This record gives sequence, C-alpha cells and structure tokens, in this order.
Amino acid sequence: MSSNDHWMQRDLDVLWHPCTQMKDHETLPIVPIRRAEGIWLEDFDGRRYLDAVSSWWTNIFGHCNPRINNRIKQQLDQLEHVMLAGFTHGPVVELSERLVQITPEGLNRVFYADNGSSGIEVALKMSHHYWLNHGKPEKKRFATISNGYHGETLATLAVGDVALYTETYKALLMDCIKVPSPDCYHRPEGVSWAEHSRLMFEHMRQTLELHHTELSAVILEPLVQGAGGMRMYHPIYLTLLREACDHYGVHLILDEIAMGFGRTGSMFACNQANITPDFMVLSKALTGGYLPMAAIMTTDDVYQAFYDEYDTMRAFLHSHTYTGNPLACAAALATLDIFEQDNVIENNKVLAQHMADATEHLKQHAHVAEVRQTGMVLAIEMVKDKATKEPFAWQERRGLKVYEHAMAKGALLRPLGNVVYFIPPYVITPEQIHWLAEVATEGIDLATRD
Ligand SMILES: Cc1ncc(COP(=O)(O)O)c(C=O)c1O
Repeated sequence: MSSNDHWMQRDLDVLWHPCTQMKDHETLPIVPIRRAEGIWLEDFDGRRYLDAVSSWWTNIFGHCNPRINNRIKQQLDQLEHVMLAGFTHGPVVELSERLVQITPEGLNRVFYADNGSSGIEVALKMSHHYWLNHGKPEKKRFATISNGYHGETLATLAVGDVALYTETYKALLMDCIKVPSPDCYHRPEGVSWAEHSRLMFEHMRQTLELHHTELSAVILEPLVQGAGGMRMYHPIYLTLLREACDHYGVHLILDEIAMGFGRTGSMFACNQANITPDFMVLSKALTGGYLPMAAIMTTDDVYQAFYDEYDTMRAFLHSHTYTGNPLACAAALATLDIFEQDNVIENNKVLAQHMADATEHLKQHAHVAEVRQTGMVLAIEMVKDKATKEPFAWQERRGLKVYEHAMAKGALLRPLGNVVYFIPPYVITPEQIHWLAEVATEGIDLATRD
C-alpha cells in the first residue's frame, strides 16, 4: 500500500469532507498532502501539484512562505491568543491601523470575525442594527444580485443565489430581493462590458426606488462572482450602485472576501470604481491563506450609531471566540509587509498578461463560449454549443474530467461546474502559467469530447 493509500484509508474511516459527495471517493482518490512549498503541494508518495486555485482562493504568496512563517513563529512564542473583549494586543492594533490605511477613504473601523461567512453575518447584522439604532426598524431586508455567493451559513445562503448550495435549505432562508446580475457573459453580441453593466443597473435602480424604505443594505461581490462561475462585470455598476444607495439611504456591503488583496488587478476590487462602501468584508487572502480570519471594515457614521450609554442597549454584542486571534493577525501583518515591500500589484500585471496570452487560443475552441479575465482571475466557459452557449448538462460533470486530467499531470485545477479557472498564487512564474494553460487545454479537449 502506498503512503497515499494509507492516509486515504484512515481519512475515509473518520472524515466527512466539505463540498463533497463522499461516495465519489469510492473511485476518486483523496489526495493526502504531506508538505507544501511556494506554488507546489506534495503528496505522501512524493507527487507534486501546482496549486492553480490558491487552495480555495486564499494563498497569494505561496505555501510555507518564509516571511509569513517567521512572523507567525515569533508571535507564537509571545502570545497565542487572548479574548478581545476587554483586552487587546499589539498585532490586532497594528493590523487595524494598517487596514484603515490601505482600504478606501472613510473605512476607519475594523471589527473581526473568524471566517468569511461570519464576516458577512456581522455586516448584515450591523447594517440592520444601525437602522434600528436610528429608529428605522422597518429597514430589515437585503437586496442582492443573482448568482452571488457569500458563504454557507443560513444568512449568507439567504443573500446568495447559487442554487447548488441554496436550494436544499430554502425553507430555512430569510427572504431577500434578487436583482438580475450584470454578469457580462450574458451580454448581447456587440455590446461592451461597460454598456451591459450600465444597462443591467436599471433593475437595481428600480428595486431601490421601490423598496428603499424596507431595505437595510445591498450586498454583492464586486467585479467577479466567484462561486457563481467566475462571472464578471464592469466597475461602472459599482459606481452607479454607490450613487443610488446614497440617494435612497440604503447601505452598500461589498464582499471582497475572494476578490480583495490584488486579485482583480487593484488592491481592492472597489478601487476600480473609486467608491467607499459602508461595509467591506475581507477574509481569505487577508492572512496570506494561512489562518481563518475576517475583517469587517466600516465607517465612523456606522460606529457612532452604536456608541452610547450601556443601558440604551445600542451596543453591537456580537462575538466570536477567536476574534482578532494574534497568530492570524501576525500572518496578516506579514502579508501586508509583502504587499508593501514587493511590487505586487505591478508585477501581477505582467503575470495577468501571460495568463491572457497563454489561453488566447482557447477562444477558438469548439466547446469554449468565452475566455474572460479580470486581473489575476481567468475563466474558461466550456459549453455544449458554442453558437447558442447551451451549457453541458451538469450531470455530465465535464469539469471533473478536467480536474482528473490536471491532477494526473500535476496541476490542481478545480472547475466550478463547466467553468475552468485559474486563480494562482502571485508567485506563479510565466513558464508555469504557460504550462498550466497547456494542461487546461488538454483537459478541456478530453472533457468536451462526446
Ligand atoms: C465571495 C465570498 N464570500 C464569502 C465566502 C465564505 O467564506 P468562508 O468560506 O470563509 O466562510 C466565500 C468563500 O468562498 C466567498 O468566495
């Protein structure tokens, strides 16, 4: 029995994996990872896999990055954890100061949670609670765009719209208003991203006009709808949305959990629209992909709505046990150091161009409807019929075939349904990008053969 098989057997005896039909693993091997370095994951039999999806979009500076490792090791010998109610510590103060500095003007307060979903829950609760504190209890609904994803807890599923995750639990979910997404995959031929996004905004404008008195906030993923299939839209939509939310007195919550920290080509996706949301939720790459943590950034206006004598009961009494964990803060500080010391955003422009060049030929592929890109996210949409964009039936699991081929070649590509995508760590090299594109092309060829 190989070492991989040994760990796989022990795993299958006791574990239940996320986002998995466990029966699949009767035929599909679990891959036990022994170590990782840079862009490579290595299994117990010594095989290596290029992590083209940054381990669920978290890892930006490579695995076991010496700079992040060292910072965590130093912190570990000093303070591993202390509760953040009534106490504070250096790393959380320093991290908060630096997040206030680098996020859009006006986001001056930071609240912490343990992961992305909890971060979104905080923003939703804070938004409604703000209105309660302002004597407007009727503002208790949320609007969002179709095909969005914000996590898997009940409130985040409710504001999400990816049927694979929401449908089963719909009886448990609060009622939200879903507006058609500006997703440019669906734009009519000859219409630009900007024009399509602008036109689609009319649905949102009408919703705000009609429902603003009962709306607490609009929540959406800026520029790229990740779990919805890396669907993309133009920043003009966010600019218009900010104006309309101001006009109608509705909060704007931006979920930058997946797209923050350089992923879309700017430090934060909303920088491209030059706007400040009322709440911005960060997670994933916040700690370089090392430890679970979310930061909810908000404004002085929101903070002041809660600031009062205790007995007015206006305080935000939300708490997660590991709020502001010092080890996670240390990882985040080391991550911000790398952004400060290396020319990350500029260097990524070169890498993004390589991603575009290496996949250009796929636009001609008989079963590819679109190759789209925003910064360091590139997605390839496999379809049954190129002319009509008719998708392959989901039951055919074409994406899984791409996954299996890529794993055999030593690349971790994990398609979302029929969408093959690259979200690599920023330490990927141009040569690796071109190799990855070759592997993806072979995988797509194989997967789309009838
Ligand atoms: C945009 C977005 N929001 C929220 C989440 C949920 O984060 P977590 O899995 O840490 O709860 C994710 C996770 O993929 C995400 O992509």
